[in-house]
Amino acid sequence: MKKILSSEITPYSAYINRRKFIKLAGILSIAMPITSPVSALHTQSTTKYDNQLEEGDKINTYDEITTYNNFYEFGMGKSDPANNSDLFNPKPWKIKIEGLVEKPFEINLEDLLKNISIEDRVYRLRCVEAWSMVIPWQGFPLSKLIEIASPLSSAKFIQFVTVFRPEEMLGQKQRLLPWPYVEGLRMDEAMHPLTILSTGLYGHDLLNQNGAPLRLVVPWKYGFKSIKSIEAIRFVEKQPSATWSMVAPNEYGFYSNVNNAVHHPRWSQGTERRIGEFFRRPTLMFNGYEEEVSYLYKNMDLQKFY
Ligand code: MTE
Repeated sequence: MKKILSSEITPYSAYINRRKFIKLAGILSIAMPITSPVSALHTQSTTKYDNQLEEGDKINTYDEITTYNNFYEFGMGKSDPANNSDLFNPKPWKIKIEGLVEKPFEINLEDLLKNISIEDRVYRLRCVEAWSMVIPWQGFPLSKLIEIASPLSSAKFIQFVTVFRPEEMLGQKQRLLPWPYVEGLRMDEAMHPLTILSTGLYGHDLLNQNGAPLRLVVPWKYGFKSIKSIEAIRFVEKQPSATWSMVAPNEYGFYSNVNNAVHHPRWSQGTERRIGEFFRRPTLMFNGYEEEVSYLYKNMDLQKFY
């Protein structure tokens, strides 16, 4: 398992104070290449979602966020991703932009990040077996990459594809899931400012177990939408396939919105266990982001489009 010394981790309180200091200093939108060392510059956001902590929300510790994971490419157990991902080498990294775009291209992640400033955002990630964490992500809105990609007007959905490297991701040598892992979003969901591509958390580049070097975060959806180690982004006309809804369509729908009224056939979605807490808490509609996102599903029957 990759170790970061605890002395290297910024306690969240110091981290927030540093952010305030930076804000006072009036430094805005500082571009941060992924190779830069951990630094106070790896923070800055002026969006209204910045530092969005609900009443009673506490940021999970770095240790919790990096040792309790789902990443089947490294095994099915929650500690497998931290224990089995050392062989995976996410640097350098290329992203392919494919499908319905003016011109398909490949770009080095480092080059992409030179053109995009990194922001800090605190989001809850709600995983489908009814556990959740609150994570201080660093990343950028997916919409920024979509702008660079210049999709054609016929592109209505986006599919994301995880890298396929069975020599480095030993789970891919077994048939735990059909590989590579794929996920999708409707274009308006993808363009929503809450939807980000993350490159780091707590001021550190993502560790392998969290989806290095680039993973999706869609905070109002169940965790499995947040696909890790993305290698290709494909613009398509029709709703693309997504791994879990391919494997078990009656359990996992394409939309996968956190919805306390639509239960998974094998468990309730009404409550969740926040990692680090003892008592379960009620699950909020759209994971607490109802005000921001419910308009996306205005005229849809969410019992049917789950
Ligand atoms: N992405 C890939 N490629 N493979 C996976 O198995 N698991 C998903 C998602 N992204 C998964 C994935 C699931 S089920 C969850 S809950 C989240 O990652 C967990 O993210 P975290 O481990 O960073 O909390």
